[in-house]
Amino acid sequence: MQGTIRFCFLVMLAATFTGLAVSLNNGLARTPPMGWLAWERFRCDLNCKDDPDDCISEKLFLDMGKRLSEDGWTKFGYDRVNIDDCWPAKERDAEGRLVADPERFPHGIKWLAEQLHGMGVKLGIYEDYGTKTCAGYPGTMDHITTDADTFASWGVDMLKMDGCNSNISTMDTGYPAIGDALNKTGRPILYSCSWPDYERARHMDVNYTFIAEHCNMWRNYHDIGDSWQSVYTIIDFYGNASNYELFGKVAGPGNWNDPDMLIIGDFSLSFEQSKAQFAFWCLMASPLFMSNDLRAISDEAKTILQNTEILAVNQDPLGVQGYRVHQYNNHEVWCKPLHDKSVAVILWNRSTGGMHSKITVQFKQVGLPASGNVTVRDLYEHQDMGSFSGSYSTYVNPAGGVVMLKLTPVALADRRAAEAYVL
Ligand code: GLA
Repeated sequence: MQGTIRFCFLVMLAATFTGLAVSLNNGLARTPPMGWLAWERFRCDLNCKDDPDDCISEKLFLDMGKRLSEDGWTKFGYDRVNIDDCWPAKERDAEGRLVADPERFPHGIKWLAEQLHGMGVKLGIYEDYGTKTCAGYPGTMDHITTDADTFASWGVDMLKMDGCNSNISTMDTGYPAIGDALNKTGRPILYSCSWPDYERARHMDVNYTFIAEHCNMWRNYHDIGDSWQSVYTIIDFYGNASNYELFGKVAGPGNWNDPDMLIIGDFSLSFEQSKAQFAFWCLMASPLFMSNDLRAISDEAKTILQNTEILAVNQDPLGVQGYRVHQYNNHEVWCKPLHDKSVAVILWNRSTGGMHSKITVQFKQVGLPASGNVTVRDLYEHQDMGSFSGSYSTYVNPAGGVVMLKLTPVALADRRAAEAYVL
């Protein structure tokens, strides 16, 4: 227990200084970026003849941009549509520039960006540090400046730089060179790097402080797939305290660890598990890129993804990445300190026994005073649960269920109420 308290204290101290960290000098991603990304749901579907709605084409990205804009997603902060692999033609043009596949993107990327910008939506694109992308399309190797200039001239707002088919030992110079080339275009382009994931996979030492100086966000771990196992394996990776020591502390305004896409609204997750993925991605201050079909999403999935109280935890300006503070049998407690001195908490029940279980958060576990009252608000139920001293316990559904709470010391809440009254 002593160790846990010390760990929480160090994390809160580190959070205080997050703003001082050196970061990529583009002023972007001061809170975790949000939007939609094609890969997990639509992969490399090239069959526009038989599957015109789902293939990787300008229609798919226009459809998703329209849904973001017309169905109100942009008001919640989901304001990016991102292309992934398989968009270019197999060959560059005579000047060595990338071109979009002419059949699937007949109007080109510049036109697509203009259409999306007209809807209030930004466009992201995908490239690869190596000679070819993971799916075998032309890579950026030997074309760094040309590609950065091309993307800027098209009005691209974000670049995901993958790392297939490359010499991984050169990434420490190659990824910063791409970041510099993006900066030199003069267009603000959010830079998402797969660099640390490739180094980790090679068992290399990953220098996250250095990576955070050059990238706005970065992938740390395996690709997400459409399964609960994939989701909880990723959560476990981030919950591992030694991983938090390694990369959790470099997260903050301008720099985010990326556990990959949200799969809420797809085929595998139960309602409880969907709530869990969203709660954890928000608690971990993760980029929120949905990979689902916004043309056919259920009201249930939409309600989860548009929960403003939980989105506020994700977008909290302090930018601390939440972390696991307690694990016992199949029960876990995680927390994220917020800028207003309150703390967001997840109670997680991983048991498959079929019964709900009572899980307790001890206030001192999450950096709050052990004595004195704390108000508890349930962020999925949108309900104040009362004021408690020392701890709070509640039932949590099994098979991955979560309860997500906001804990606020009462003295603080009283002061805020008094201030509001004076105003
Ligand atoms: C890698 C990345 C994925 C996706 C595919 C595309 O696997 O990690 O996110 O971009 O490549 O080929």
